[in-house]
Amino acid sequence: MTAVLLATCKELPSGDEEGESLSAALRRRGIEPRWQVWDDPATHWDALTVVRSTWDYAARRDQFLRWAASVPVLENPYPLIAWNSDKGYLADLSAQGVATVPTEFVPPGEQVRYPDAREWVVKPSVGAGSRGVGRFADRTAAGEHVRALHDAGRTAMVQPYLDDVDTVGETALIYLDGRFSHAVEKGPMLARHGVHAVEHADLFVAERITARAPTDAERALADEVVRALTSRVGTAPLYARIDLLPAPEGPVLVELEITEPSLFLLFDEDAADRFAAAIAARA
Ligand SMILES: Nc1ncnc2c1ncn2[C@@H]1O[C@H](COP(=O)(O)OP(=O)(O)O)[C@@H](O)[C@H]1O
Ligand SMILES: [Mg+2]
Repeated sequence: MTAVLLATCKELPSGDEEGESLSAALRRRGIEPRWQVWDDPATHWDALTVVRSTWDYAARRDQFLRWAASVPVLENPYPLIAWNSDKGYLADLSAQGVATVPTEFVPPGEQVRYPDAREWVVKPSVGAGSRGVGRFADRTAAGEHVRALHDAGRTAMVQPYLDDVDTVGETALIYLDGRFSHAVEKGPMLARHGVHAVEHADLFVAERITARAPTDAERALADEVVRALTSRVGTAPLYARIDLLPAPEGPVLVELEITEPSLFLLFDEDAADRFAAAIAARA
């Protein structure tokens, strides 16, 4: 039986809540799924490896990237992961014409430039699971969070708080093998001011998810992101999640997840099977 290695973290040794549906769909296609912890030195990565719930890497991105570079056959491939694990990619996509949340990147040692807004979001450029993301109504508090990130050696990102998210929510569009699969709505994550509290064994902040059909404008923007991505590496990514926020002028990209996203496989009947088929085609 062909095996496929599914990379996870030690807190979730057999994957996250959608992991079992992926395992079952792979088995139905005659593929043996094996969950392995990415930073366990005893593991071997001697088969197609798909990055899944490796959610503990943000504080040690260098180690994670060294691991990714060392895996012989990795999906998504190392160059995509290296580029995507720092939100600096938003500036690249914006330069390619993709509508993104206006963002000021502020590395340690630089002064903060605040975009024109009533409220701001400050977050680390390397981060996941909403950890270290804060919403602020005054510049003093925002500036303190920037300083805290700088003290930890991290680049801060400053964005306007796009408050339509409070009523409309965020839309996440999932693409498998470069094709649209399904979409979900995420409720606003920053309901309160201040830096987000951390829950769930430090891995992520709880999200409120429901299935949602994307609008035409959301589909068009997400398609554009996947095209931009495909032209970067020459092949369609095995998996991609495109997170969009509502802005007055239309949807904008807040995050592109091609490293270790939840793919919300449990929110669409056929999604796990579609993902398994795409994996099987590469195994
Ligand atoms: N500029 C913004 N305006 C409104 N909400 C935001 C903004 N940036 C982030 N958020 C909220 O915070 C959450 C986490 O931010 P995100 O950029 O996705 O970082 P992470 O990589 O930690 O998921 C988003 O899902 C969204 O709900
Ligand atoms: Mg996010």
